Amino acid sequence: MTTGAPGHFGIYVHIPFCLRRCDYCAFATWDDRSSLLPAYVGGLVSEIAAAAAALPGVTSVFFGGGTPSLLAPEQLRSVLRLLPLEPAAEVSVECNPDTVDAERLAGYHDAGVTRISLGAQSLCDHVLVALGRTHGVDGVVRAAAAVAAEGFDSWNLDLIYGAVGESLDDWRTTLGCALDLHPPHVSAYGLTVEPGTPLADDPDRFPDDDDQADKYELAERLLSVAGLESYEISNWARPGHQCRHNHCYWSQGNYRGFGCAAHSHVDGRRWWNVRTPERYLSLLDAGESVVAAGERLDPTQRRAERLQLALRTSGGVPASALDTEGLDGLVERRRDRVVLTTSGRLLANEVATRLR
Ligand SMILES: C[S@@+](CC[C@H](N)C(=O)[O-])C[C@H]1O[C@@H](n2cnc3c(N)ncnc32)[C@H](O)[C@@H]1O
Ligand code: SF4
Repeated sequence: MTTGAPGHFGIYVHIPFCLRRCDYCAFATWDDRSSLLPAYVGGLVSEIAAAAAALPGVTSVFFGGGTPSLLAPEQLRSVLRLLPLEPAAEVSVECNPDTVDAERLAGYHDAGVTRISLGAQSLCDHVLVALGRTHGVDGVVRAAAAVAAEGFDSWNLDLIYGAVGESLDDWRTTLGCALDLHPPHVSAYGLTVEPGTPLADDPDRFPDDDDQADKYELAERLLSVAGLESYEISNWARPGHQCRHNHCYWSQGNYRGFGCAAHSHVDGRRWWNVRTPERYLSLLDAGESVVAAGERLDPTQRRAERLQLALRTSGGVPASALDTEGLDGLVERRRDRVVLTTSGRLLANEVATRLR
């Protein structure tokens, strides 16, 4: 069963390269330095090799980015083989539709990958253009068919709603076409205006709150009817297909991050690596630490954060931890827990201010 069980230990591996930067994206990734990729994989190998002896058994690995599917299967394998994986560990790779084909996916599977997360974003061509994606709908369909045919344990489609020019009917089309591909897991994110991105400089393309709320409710309706249950605000899965690595984050589990900009958390201590691949590689070359900074959460901060994360999940929070007065319709009681309703999930930040 894929839940955040005690004893979970996750590994995050960051791949900071993309074919082209999407202008809404604020992740640590670059589209003009793919020549660094081989050296970067060498850097990951040395960072992980130095840490591996002290790692506990690993129950999930997540290759995130950026575009991890720019890695050749052999490069991915060279990283994965250093990790002390538990039997049946979940190993996810984020893939862009236009960087995978049947051969690459078979190579990943053979290297030990169990789960693919495919960045579809939309199944309407004009929305993909508005988002500045490098692929069309045909690319998503082709990639999803190849993922399904390869027979991974599980896979996910990432979708974004709220791009300029996307009508409610376009979003209905995206959800319908996505469901036709039979993904066992869907992540649907409202387009967020991230400071410092080109999107942030263009108010004409900002998403509308009411439109996004309607689209969220439509997603909840269509996905749940199709058998995908909401288990976190932006995540739906068929039974047995929840992402174990996500659960590790949401349950304040322990995880180590490798690569530039990667974050780690072990027992209330958090730290993160330097942001750029150049700085990361030069520190490794000099035999120095790649850690940029860190912090230790005190017990009060840890509890507050634990409740905020739990509130966003279908497990909710203990009833005693939330002042529910005036929150009618936004939360519901399930035995000794309180969970957000669909309307409550749209106002999760406001509800979280009532945690006590
Ligand atoms: C780190 S990206 C990696 C996935 C992969 N590079 C891709 O784009 O296909 C993970 C996901 O974050 C989501 N995302 C990134 N920026 C976003 C934004 N500003 N608003 C909403 N979702 C965003 C997208 O759905 C994306 O698939
Ligand atoms: S959304 Fe994905 S492909 Fe686009 S820039 Fe961000 S990480 Fe790269």
